[in-house]
Amino acid sequence: MKSFTFQNPTKIIFGEGQIAALDANVPRNARALITCGGGSIKSNGVLAQVQAALGERASFVFEGIEPNPTYETLMQAVALAREKNIDFLLAVGGGSVIDGTKFIAAAMKFDGEPWDILARQAPVRDAVPFGSVLTLPATGSEMNNGSVISYRAKGDKLFFTSDATYPLFSVLDPTTTYSLPPRQIANGVVDAFVHIVEQYLTYPVDAKVQDRFAEGLLITLTEVGPQALAEPHNYSVRANLMWTATLALNGLIGAGVPQDWATHMLGHEITALHGLDHAQTLAIVLPAMLTVRKEQKRGKLLQYAERVWNITEGSEDDRINAAITATRMFFERMTVGTRLRDYQIGGGSIETLIAKLTEHGMTALGEHGDVTPEVSRKVYEVAV
Ligand code: NZQ
Ligand code: ZN
Repeated sequence: MKSFTFQNPTKIIFGEGQIAALDANVPRNARALITCGGGSIKSNGVLAQVQAALGERASFVFEGIEPNPTYETLMQAVALAREKNIDFLLAVGGGSVIDGTKFIAAAMKFDGEPWDILARQAPVRDAVPFGSVLTLPATGSEMNNGSVISYRAKGDKLFFTSDATYPLFSVLDPTTTYSLPPRQIANGVVDAFVHIVEQYLTYPVDAKVQDRFAEGLLITLTEVGPQALAEPHNYSVRANLMWTATLALNGLIGAGVPQDWATHMLGHEITALHGLDHAQTLAIVLPAMLTVRKEQKRGKLLQYAERVWNITEGSEDDRINAAITATRMFFERMTVGTRLRDYQIGGGSIETLIAKLTEHGMTALGEHGDVTPEVSRKVYEVAV
């Protein structure tokens, strides 16, 4: 096992009816800005619950944070927050709203051009305190310090992390997910699955409990993912999905183990260029990535085959290939296409994708730093 420091300060408030707990967790004298997306929290009643819980506190609403949140939109929120003297932010929505709110929180305290936080990885030392009410199990943003922001005009999608951008608390009420369209449930399952894989499917370091936690989370997703599509109002299924997605990326399973993240970086470029959903890009890239990097990942692929998919027959190569196929079939069963052509994208854009990866410094990716632009090109080619 590698050495590590692990600290996660986010308080989780989980269960049906827990939005009411905002009253006990948002400072009584706060001037709060509720940040949200395109309207789902109005139609499903979540905003009304949030406002009821905030009671007499001064609160304002910033609407319109889009999927793959943009710098352009978020800077409007920063301006509103400054104008209203906001001192607390409350993100109510999915990963995009929470990520966007992390950027708003950081930008409000940032001296200089806030895009440098992404483009130059300028350190974020301070941020406005914020909490979240999660409505879409997927990203883990509710319990981590990461944020992915797009700059529409530049065609960039970049990430930052900072100790100052952990949510103070996150409310996870599984009933808020009942209104999710099937596409978003499917996306969430695939995204959480790939988060686990990025921290697990690297090379063995004898991290027994991290491996078994990761395998338990993966197996849980293979169980509850299809159920979540089939039974949208099954509380138990939604509760298990929600907590699994949070645990997938809150630092726990990634402590003390090598991490990959190449699939995510290649996926971000596809979203930036073609506008695909985040999870769609992962479903395209991961099977191709595992195929191209079979040798480097051999030990863990065999373990994954046996412990997650129960594949024990055949030669090593047979088992590895079967595990990659099982992964692809799972994404397809979740109704997420696993090839670029499923989204009417051909090989013609690969050179642009590689140029963008290179421009963004993504030239030595993966757990060994050996995913060069050449390797990435191969992955995109296999993904067509
Ligand atoms: O905008 P509204 O109207 O709220 O609708 C949203 C949006 O259209 C809708 N939605 C959310 N909750 C709903 C709902 N509709 C009905 N009922 C509900 N309860 O779902 C749509 C997608 O929302 P979005 O927040 O974009 O989805 P997701 O949570 O999958 O977030 C994706 C973003 O997170 C980033 C991705 O890159 C992408 O930008 N990621 C963030 C990570 C992190 N911070 O750690 C890690 C991930 O790898 C990921 O990169
Ligand atoms: Zn992701």
